[in-house]
Amino acid sequence: MNKKKIGIGMGTWAWGNKLVWGYKPETDDILLKKTFFDAIDGGLDLVDTADSYGTGNLFGQSEKLIGNFLEELPKRKLKKITIATKLAPFPWRIGRNGFNHAFQESNKRLRGHIKRAQLHWSTSRYAPWQEEQLLNGLGDLYEKGLIQEIGLSNTGPKRLCFLYQKLKERGIKITSIQMQFSLLTKPTLEDEKIKNLCIEHNIEYLAYSPLALGILAIKPNKSPKPKTFLRQKLFQNILPKTIELRKLLTNIGEKYSASQAQVALNWIRSHGAKPIVGIRNPLQAKDAISALNWSLTKREKERLDFYRNSCLANMPQNPFTSP
Ligand SMILES: NC(=O)c1ccc[n+]([C@@H]2O[C@H](COP(=O)([O-])OP(=O)(O)OC[C@H]3O[C@@H](n4cnc5c(N)ncnc54)[C@H](OP(=O)(O)O)[C@@H]3O)[C@@H](O)[C@H]2O)c1
Repeated sequence: MNKKKIGIGMGTWAWGNKLVWGYKPETDDILLKKTFFDAIDGGLDLVDTADSYGTGNLFGQSEKLIGNFLEELPKRKLKKITIATKLAPFPWRIGRNGFNHAFQESNKRLRGHIKRAQLHWSTSRYAPWQEEQLLNGLGDLYEKGLIQEIGLSNTGPKRLCFLYQKLKERGIKITSIQMQFSLLTKPTLEDEKIKNLCIEHNIEYLAYSPLALGILAIKPNKSPKPKTFLRQKLFQNILPKTIELRKLLTNIGEKYSASQAQVALNWIRSHGAKPIVGIRNPLQAKDAISALNWSLTKREKERLDFYRNSCLANMPQNPFTSP
């Protein structure tokens, strides 16, 4: 049985509906709370958020919401999970102390429960000197005992090597790296290099957007129109080119009485990665939990790999990803 667990991504679902989909606090927060509690009860053990999830008046909204939920979570359950946030290297967060205030604010919103702080994206393309400084700042937080783990995100293999060495010189380990990874991300040599570095240095590879924003869960004969303009464009382009892949997900799922989403999540686990999935309701939480009960065979994994390699459409790469 595959030992890799699944994490909960608290990005789009925690604040996206507030911005776009007509948020109703009296019903939505209750639904999200149940989703969150069910997910943790079912064994999803990493909660991923970011200080930038929510902007303007909604800044830090995802962290606030999680902080409220955590207040009601019994201590014994809290001990079993990791609360991880990502701090954004905005241009005004400069130097080694650049994250100090941001961290304090995030930790307030998350009621002092941050275990892992992650650098949200690499600045190496536009401000390479910043990255090391900010990471050293996270190292200081670690040495002061304010966090227990450090993570990276959207960092390519060259920068990963460099940053890993820099922290190693201080006797600090990088616990995880999160990258966009799904059946619809373009297979690249860089990604293979990152995975190998993760194995070599015992870094956990976290796959974000593992369902390609939900596309992989859509039935092969369906083509729903999402509510945001950006997603409409994306779905319009990708859905017609992924019918065969989604058929294969259905076929494999039938054998395990599992959904397409479960197959897509277990494909990620079969690559030694841990998916952080953006679940929005209790049914999706239940579905993700069910994926923990079974694994793909080698042949099924290879068939999916083959379809991925020959897929005619891919998710756009995150522009902040470094070399
Ligand atoms: N480091 C980074 O730069 C970065 C970037 C993006 C995301 N992330 C992290 O990764 C997390 C997840 O990524 P994501 O939300 O972008 O993408 P995702 O997990 O690929 O897709 C989320 C969407 O999938 C659908 N879904 C989820 N579970 C489902 C199920 N069991 N059956 C059917 N549909 C299901 C939902 O769609 P509906 O809304 O249609 O129900 C949901 O909105 C984020 O919350 C965030 O924590 C990190």
